[in-house]
Amino acid sequence: MSCNRECVLVSGGAGYIGTHTTVALIEAGYDVVVVDNFSNSDASAISGVEKIVGRKIAFHQVDTCDRDALKRVFEQHGFNSVIHFAAFKAVGESVADPLKYYQNNLVSFMNILDLMKEYQRPNVLFSSSATVYGDTDTLPVTEESPRQPAMSPYGNTKQIAEDVLRDCCRAYDAIYGIALRYFNPIGAHPSALIGELPRGVPNNLLPYVTQTAAGVRQCLSIFGNDYDTPDGTCLRDYIDVVDLARAHVAALARMLHHGMKDKYEIFNVGTGNPVSVLELVNSFIEANGVDVPFKISGRRQGDVPAVWADTALANKELGWKTERNLTQTLRAAWAWEKHLRNID
Ligand code: NAD
Ligand code: WQD
Repeated sequence: MSCNRECVLVSGGAGYIGTHTTVALIEAGYDVVVVDNFSNSDASAISGVEKIVGRKIAFHQVDTCDRDALKRVFEQHGFNSVIHFAAFKAVGESVADPLKYYQNNLVSFMNILDLMKEYQRPNVLFSSSATVYGDTDTLPVTEESPRQPAMSPYGNTKQIAEDVLRDCCRAYDAIYGIALRYFNPIGAHPSALIGELPRGVPNNLLPYVTQTAAGVRQCLSIFGNDYDTPDGTCLRDYIDVVDLARAHVAALARMLHHGMKDKYEIFNVGTGNPVSVLELVNSFIEANGVDVPFKISGRRQGDVPAVWADTALANKELGWKTERNLTQTLRAAWAWEKHLRNID
């Protein structure tokens, strides 16, 4: 099947950010082909997307590390652009098993780039991360802020993958790339049909908060209140996943409509507003009228005290800005958790 309208390959499209972006792309009029190996997702994510958009989507259960299987997808579909989400993302696991991360996150991306080159599919959006800034002392961080040494093998895969993409854009006439550096994605689609599916005990703050509110976890630990920040807890830039998905649509349009100023570009995708851990927890309680028992624990190793984005470049060049406020985001996160747990 080739695509009639402008078509996009979404790798890792059954995942948290991939599902929301797939919905946003379809709503913007694109045809989408999703590949995912369900290593951190399952078929319910694809059903959720299909319910929201009201039709079947093209899906292939493919491991992007399997070049031959991925090649068949390139042969079958006539997309010009790829949005590459497929990767592992658990920081702690990457410290315990670095090869798993270097293997999956780098081999899959190099397969994508290699096949784009072979089949002359020019555009790629790459899921990078604020983690590439490491323990930065320039706040807010701009795209020009120097990347500090990676604080985990996961972070290193993002730094290396950015460099691989930059070098490919320089070397190969037919490859154009944008790296989007996401800050802290949170929330869920307002329909509560798609959202994050953390496996086991969540590492990230908001899934731990929603599971505690749902009674799945007894008590949230706040990791440190002795940082040099206004209330002593860490500051982060929490970006609504629906706004983040829209940033991909904006970046894709820039590529397709020849709006790029360089063959390789980087944009921060955040809100530009620092929010402390305590503020996030208290805002969740207030937005949803539910209780979240919490206690203050010791600092978590590897946490940076504060990081938030300067979003001026994305706002100007992508013509994108956030639309959802923190209350809406926290209500959507709770609606998704209730959907997962069958809570009324
Ligand atoms: P996710 O785990 O929910 O989604 C990733 C998807 O990719 C999953 O469905 C998984 O099954 C799939 N996948 C992994 N390896 C694959 C492979 N080899 N072949 C095919 N499919 C594969 O994660 P997410 O939160 O949606 O993250 C998407 C991307 O954004 C990742 O690259 C991640 O590193 C990056 N990112 C995430 C965050 C965050 O906090 N969620 C922040 C910054 C960057
Ligand atoms: C946020 C804040 C914790 C859990 C991670 C990755 C990063 C990116 C986004 C992919 C911190 C505190 C957390 C808890 C807590 N992912 N916290 N109790 O660490 O900013 O970023 O996800 O690229 O690479 O490192 O996000 O949600 O884990 O933590 O107090 O149970 O919440 O200490 O200050 P983080 P997070």
